[in-house]
Amino acid sequence: MPREIEKLEKVFSPSNKDIRSISISFHHAMLCGLNGQPSSLKMLPSFLTMPDGNEQGLYMALDFGGTNVRVLLVELHGNGRYTILARRQARLKDSNGLYDFTSPNASANELFDFIAKEVAQLAPSGKELPLGHTFSFPSNQLDVNSALLINWTKEIAVSGVEGNDVTKLLTAALQRAGLVHIRPAAIINDTVGTLLTSSYSHPDSHLGSICGTGHNTAYLERCYRAANNAMIINMESGNFNCLPLTKYDRLIDAASEKPGGQLLEKAVSGRYLGELLRLILLDILTNSRLDCLPSDLQNPYSLSAEDIALILADTTTELDNIAGWLVDHCRNRTTSIDDRLAVKKAAGLLVSRSAYFVAASYLGVIQHIDPNFDCSHHIAIDGSLFEKMPGYAQAISKAITEVHGGKAGRITTSLIKDGSGVGAAIAAAIACKKKL
Ligand code: GLC
Repeated sequence: MPREIEKLEKVFSPSNKDIRSISISFHHAMLCGLNGQPSSLKMLPSFLTMPDGNEQGLYMALDFGGTNVRVLLVELHGNGRYTILARRQARLKDSNGLYDFTSPNASANELFDFIAKEVAQLAPSGKELPLGHTFSFPSNQLDVNSALLINWTKEIAVSGVEGNDVTKLLTAALQRAGLVHIRPAAIINDTVGTLLTSSYSHPDSHLGSICGTGHNTAYLERCYRAANNAMIINMESGNFNCLPLTKYDRLIDAASEKPGGQLLEKAVSGRYLGELLRLILLDILTNSRLDCLPSDLQNPYSLSAEDIALILADTTTELDNIAGWLVDHCRNRTTSIDDRLAVKKAAGLLVSRSAYFVAASYLGVIQHIDPNFDCSHHIAIDGSLFEKMPGYAQAISKAITEVHGGKAGRITTSLIKDGSGVGAAIAAAIACKKKL
């Protein structure tokens, strides 16, 4: 087993030189995307700039990310303050198999009718209310309230949405549900929402990012297409593809809904980390004396990022929780401490590689907006990986410090909880203000 782990360590531990070179390639891909040249980064305009912090009023916010649909009722008070008055959340896929609004068997109308029903549960009756919609997939914005889905990501495959105007689909579903008084006013990506929420109260927020089921980053481009035309850009950075990948990454990609796409996301995000661990364990456990009886590990996607979090959180001397976990997943009752350490090590390598790749992409963006790293830059991050995965946030800061030494102190990160949803309310407020 130690030899297998040594091998893993080699391929899953990017050096500072690797991180630097990924960040340079990332910056290059940004420039190509901005100039309309072929690039893995789509660099999609949001038709929004930063809020001034004084946006006010009551808004509905709908946050559709791929795992859950969340609905919020948000009051913006101005001066960078807001209150979430009510919230609800529903899973898109029932764990008992009763429904699945993520698969190709679901139609666009079925999905949006489900979403409209969720909105109905929180919508105050009678009163006309603007709604901000966070739709977390690559979309071509035509303006602040109109976006065509380019393609699904994160293994979602609902029929009849790709190529269509998402606001039109939502508006029609709200009408079918009798919610004519709920008026879609803005549609944004979750990274844009996170950046808007953070900059509503912290003006030095320059990047908004999601490290959760998916991964992506947005930033404020000061000169979009014309000098002095500032615009928040959704990079769709999960599609970045210039990375040192392993045989496990290639296996995941080959079996995915969209082979060849979202390579950064497939290497770093919560949707795929459990599957990466499963493929590694299948490899190292079956090659070792810890031979697995037929078990969960044979089934694709049977492990999740939560399993990884549980493994990494085990700080008992004998790694008792990991021993129990191996009984559940491998039906193996006789694991040695070395076996358990190997499992923990593999999980740790996956998580630190994820954080290092993500940090490299952030450094690429900062290189673009401030080549000498002279100013302070705040990176606002939302998502379960950043919030809950043991050691994740620290590993991002560590990578930034190792690569940028003294100047790294100017780069800060923080969790913006509910940032993607609250950002939809802020976007709706900006859009309504513009109309006046
Ligand atoms: C996927 C989507 C992207 C979203 C990210 C985080 O990468 O394509 O739009 O921002 O997931 O949810």
